[in-house]
Amino acid sequence: MKLAIISVHNRKESKDFVRAARNRKHQATLIHPKDITFTIAGSKTKAFYRGTDVLKFDAFLFYGNNAPDENFYTEKSMLALLLTREKKLVIEPTRFFGKFWAAEKLAQAGIPTPKSIYARSNRRIYESLKKIRPPYIIKPLAGSKGKGVEKIDTKKDLQKKLKNKDLEKIILQEYFPGDDHRVIVVGNKALGVMKKTPPPGDFRANISAGGKGAKVKMTPEFRKLAVAACRATDTIFGGVDVMRNGNKYTVLEVNRSPQFAGPIFAGVTKVDVAGEVIEYLEKKLRK
Ligand SMILES: Nc1ncnc2c1ncn2[C@@H]1O[C@H](COP(=O)(O)OP(=O)(O)O)[C@@H](O)[C@H]1O
Ligand SMILES: [Mg+2]
Repeated sequence: MKLAIISVHNRKESKDFVRAARNRKHQATLIHPKDITFTIAGSKTKAFYRGTDVLKFDAFLFYGNNAPDENFYTEKSMLALLLTREKKLVIEPTRFFGKFWAAEKLAQAGIPTPKSIYARSNRRIYESLKKIRPPYIIKPLAGSKGKGVEKIDTKKDLQKKLKNKDLEKIILQEYFPGDDHRVIVVGNKALGVMKKTPPPGDFRANISAGGKGAKVKMTPEFRKLAVAACRATDTIFGGVDVMRNGNKYTVLEVNRSPQFAGPIFAGVTKVDVAGEVIEYLEKKLRK
């Protein structure tokens, strides 16, 4: 196959995809969206990568930066639109609309996820608070790496805190105590589970913020929840954060374009994530 990896980053993962593809005798090209040109003329919309029609590629992998405020949003949205219309094989064909949208999708699919509130005024938030017992979690609608995720112990502290927040950009949630895990899924297949332990004095278990990862066994619960969470959010390739407390589980979020290099996942679980993604694309193209 001819694979196009569309990314604004030059992360290690992108090179892993290229290597995994070439090892399997495919062609792989890393494409920065700034190098794509679009033309609309009558009913014909075309996209060119350095002069070549992008439809010459067989499969497309959008990698990195899926937040609603992402860079090169126009290029990526246009390309996704065109490729979906042309029935091309794409990861991910749909856009991501942030954590609140994802929470709604999860809840509707019957997947346990923390109760969540989004409102534009403190007053409206307090009106809805009856549904949630402290402690509270506030987090950016479109954050990552644990940045801006805060735990607030009392209603009084929450009142103080929210005064200085841009409510447009945050959601409020109930706190779920337990152990955080990362499950990576590709095309309904759960590849592995990594337990994440927060650094001392923190409750956030993000590896990129100093958390420590350890491989744990895949169980039917992790598999079922992670696969269902990806399906519910139209995610083909996802990193699912699953909290576990004894036999209680909750899905915190689904990350599109999950990072996986080294200590973030692959080095700990020994899963060949890039290889699995290429195999998924191979299988899909054969059908
Ligand atoms: N509702 C919650 N209850 C308990 N811990 C949480 C909750 N939300 C987030 N956390 C902790 O904070 C970390 C970061 O939050 P998360 O929602 O995954 O956002 P990010 O996109 O920044 O990773 C999680 O991995 C988890 O350890
Ligand atoms: Mg997370």
